[in-house]
Amino acid sequence: MQSDILKLEQLHKNFGGVTAVDNLSLSFAKGEVTSLIGPNGAGKTTVFNLITGFIKPSSGKIIFNGWHLNGKKPHMIAAMGIGRTFQNVQVFSNMTVLENIMVGRHLRSRCGMFFSSVLPPFLRLEENRIRSAAKEWISFLKLDQYADFSAGILPLGNQRMLEIARALALEPNLLLLDEPASGLNARETIAMGELIQKIKSMDITVILVEHDMELVMDISDRVAVINFGRLIAEGTPKEVQQNPDVITAYLGT
Ligand SMILES: Nc1ncnc2c1ncn2[C@@H]1O[C@H](COP(=O)(O)OP(=O)(O)OP(=O)(O)O)[C@@H](O)[C@H]1O
Ligand SMILES: [Mg+2]
Repeated sequence: MQSDILKLEQLHKNFGGVTAVDNLSLSFAKGEVTSLIGPNGAGKTTVFNLITGFIKPSSGKIIFNGWHLNGKKPHMIAAMGIGRTFQNVQVFSNMTVLENIMVGRHLRSRCGMFFSSVLPPFLRLEENRIRSAAKEWISFLKLDQYADFSAGILPLGNQRMLEIARALALEPNLLLLDEPASGLNARETIAMGELIQKIKSMDITVILVEHDMELVMDISDRVAVINFGRLIAEGTPKEVQQNPDVITAYLGT
């Protein structure tokens, strides 16, 4: 029996009159890829924003490895080991690919960035370590040829890879990916699926929000389906695909 890395307990979020997440209770098993799917506006991104502290829940609990995350700031939650990417890819356009990844790692390090020249020797050593670790992530994501390019000029597929590299540089235990295949072509989508499986094999738990059902059903251990912020089904990809409520609400016939 797998243990859970993350638990949502009766999580609830209202935006004025709109209920975006409706008493959602859901657990995510350590070491697995769980997909969170549902129609547009179902509340998937809101769930990610709640977990990562970008917005506060109206009520309910978020428990990560036994720690309550409620009230914690995004940078604290990141430092605790939760990495994420964004539905609308967010890279620092004017920074190089290498610098973007170093920013990810600096969230866990003792020194700020870009003051190497005035750093005492022990922090300079740390800066060098961060730089070489970032280079390894660049190779892992096959971005070597772009290392010194401004991130903003990369094609979307590479920007999505870069965003994942930056999240991985944090050495997270849990990685939240919000539509990583959105805007990618068929070849890039296959590469994204392979990457997510590689990430899983590194003992990183993944929660995937994605509309590409082929990708979801291919790589997920579990699938949770939400509609109007409420959980309507949870199970293996096969169970979920055959669930009549899911077919009605989302998958169609
Ligand atoms: N900051 C906000 N202020 C007001 N309403 C919001 C806010 N963020 C989300 N909502 C509303 O909450 C609901 C859920 O939105 P959310 O972005 O979480 O959906 P989603 O499942 O990620 O959809 P999509 O698949 O289109 O990305 C929607 O009705 C949306 O309009
Ligand atoms: Mg969304």
